[in-house]
Amino acid sequence: MSDDGAARYEPVILAFTCNWCSYRAADLAGTARIKYPPNVRLVRLMCSGRLDPMFVLRAFANGADGVVMTGCWPADCHYRIQNVKALRRFQLLRRVLDSLGIEAARFQRVCASAAEGPQLAEAFTRIVEEIRPLGALRWGRPAAAPAEEPAALAEVSA
Ligand code: FES
Repeated sequence: MSDDGAARYEPVILAFTCNWCSYRAADLAGTARIKYPPNVRLVRLMCSGRLDPMFVLRAFANGADGVVMTGCWPADCHYRIQNVKALRRFQLLRRVLDSLGIEAARFQRVCASAAEGPQLAEAFTRIVEEIRPLGALRWGRPAAAPAEEPAALAEVSA
C-alpha cells in the first residue's frame, strides 16, 4: 500500500530471456540474492531470435502490461546474428505497437551477459517503475459493461 492507503498498481511484465545469457543473468541475480520486482515473469527461449512477434502480441492481448525482450550482447549470440535480426524485429514491432496505441515503455529490450545479474535486476526494476505509472493496459479486453442496461434494451430483452 502507498502512503495514502490506496493500493499501488502492480503491472504484470513478461520478460523473454535467452537461455545462454539473460536467463543465466537472472539466475545469477537470484543466487546472489539481488532483488528485482516480482512483477517480472521470465519466459526462457533459446535465443532472442526465437521471439516471434506473435508472442509479444499474445502477451499483451492476454493481460501483460509490459514485455521485455532480453538477450545476449550483439557479438555474443550463440546463433551467430539472430539477436541482430531480433533487434530489427524489435524496432519494427515497436512501431507497430505504437500505431496500436501501446506506449513504447511497455515493450523494451535489454542486453545482459550471464555475468550481469545485477545489471539485469537493475534494468527490470527500472522498467517496472516506468510501466507502473502507465497503469493497466487492458489491450484486447472489452470495455467495462455499463452499470445499468438502458430501459429500451431492457424492454426488448424481456
Ligand atoms: Fe542469446 Fe542469441 S543466444 S540472444
